[in-house]
Amino acid sequence: MTTYLTTGCAGFIGTTFVHYMLSRYTDIRIINLDALTYAGNLENLKDLEDDPRHIFVHGNICDKELVAKLIADYDPDYIINFAAESHVDRSIANPEIFVTTNVMGTVNLLQRAKEAWYDAGQKTWKSGKKYVQVSTDEVYGALGAEGFFTETTPINPHSPYSSSKASADHFVKAFHDTYGMPVNITRCSNNYGHFQFPEKLIPLMINNAKNHKQLPVYGDGMQIRDWLYVEDHCKAIDMVATAGRVGEVYNIGGHNERPNIFIVKTIIHQLSERLHDPEINEGLIKHVEDRLGHDRRYGIDPSKIKADLGWYPETTFEVGIVKTIDWYLDNQEWMERVTSGEYQKYYAEMYKNR
Ligand code: NAD
Ligand code: TYD
Repeated sequence: MTTYLTTGCAGFIGTTFVHYMLSRYTDIRIINLDALTYAGNLENLKDLEDDPRHIFVHGNICDKELVAKLIADYDPDYIINFAAESHVDRSIANPEIFVTTNVMGTVNLLQRAKEAWYDAGQKTWKSGKKYVQVSTDEVYGALGAEGFFTETTPINPHSPYSSSKASADHFVKAFHDTYGMPVNITRCSNNYGHFQFPEKLIPLMINNAKNHKQLPVYGDGMQIRDWLYVEDHCKAIDMVATAGRVGEVYNIGGHNERPNIFIVKTIIHQLSERLHDPEINEGLIKHVEDRLGHDRRYGIDPSKIKADLGWYPETTFEVGIVKTIDWYLDNQEWMERVTSGEYQKYYAEMYKNR
């Protein structure tokens, strides 16, 4: 039996990873450590309540005793760190928690894993162990009109979020370079799909459009993101964990670049057609004040992961966006629950001066 200690898997990507892995493999178990911040939602994993292969632990990745105990009790083969503060806008408003979770939390996981897996006298590591850091293309900074991020593109983050992720990546690399820790880092482009919290672009626009609310497009809306369907990302993480060359970084993306305004218009037209609702139209778009330090373009060159592991993104944007919109329409109660209470306060605060 293979044991995974995963973190942050009550959030968007982690939820999909747990479902993906448990539907694909029988002989595994996943210990899922999550602090259940605003972004974590156990409802996403409700269908696994009676599945003994999924063990949820409510706790913080910064908790030294807890992380040490989980590693001692379950002896995981893999530690995969998804847990993070993940929203750029929140990082601009309040950077400190990004350092605590994304940097200190990562170092705590690395240090506890090292204590359990490393024989300092022999300078050897227990065999079959690996630490995987789920990172982001945002650590590379922004691109102009030409070129793509490769694994050798210099790290040049701009936002507090991407700076904290870049710092965490450097610590992962340091544990590999200094102690020989078996690690991989994955750097992924923007994900979309089911269970994404509606403060990120796609679910926010779906929710607002459905409710005939304004669609706040930052600046001219010509910022470009390289959109990846979340299940394709999870497949890549599985492949990197089991077959990635130790110490390597893998970029994950798919030449699927779209300007934000294109995404918003696609959502409007798909929703209007599906709901037969002419009030969902481009008149809802409102160009609002731009995000501070807004990165203009991200674009990934995924040729290394294709060459090494045979991974490629299987879901085209045209297919993925329709699946995503349909999921949100079929799960309106989920959306209503996550957008009640705190979300309303967040929305009022974040968009009031825009
Ligand atoms: P998310 O915000 O939806 O979920 C984060 C999860 O981490 C939540 O369940 C939250 O409760 C948990 N968490 C936060 N702080 C914690 C702590 N201190 N201890 C334990 N758990 C904690 O994020 P996501 O979109 O699922 O992203 C997952 C990872 O992928 C992150 O590391 C993010 O940087 C990275 N990533 C995301 C994207 C994207 O488009 N969403 C793209 C590239 C990389
Ligand atoms: P987001 O989903 O926050 O992801 P990231 O900042 O990691 O790329 O934003 C995606 C893009 O959409 C980004 O260029 C900012 C833009 N955006 C808007 O124009 N309006 C919004 O209300 C939001 C949340 C994002």
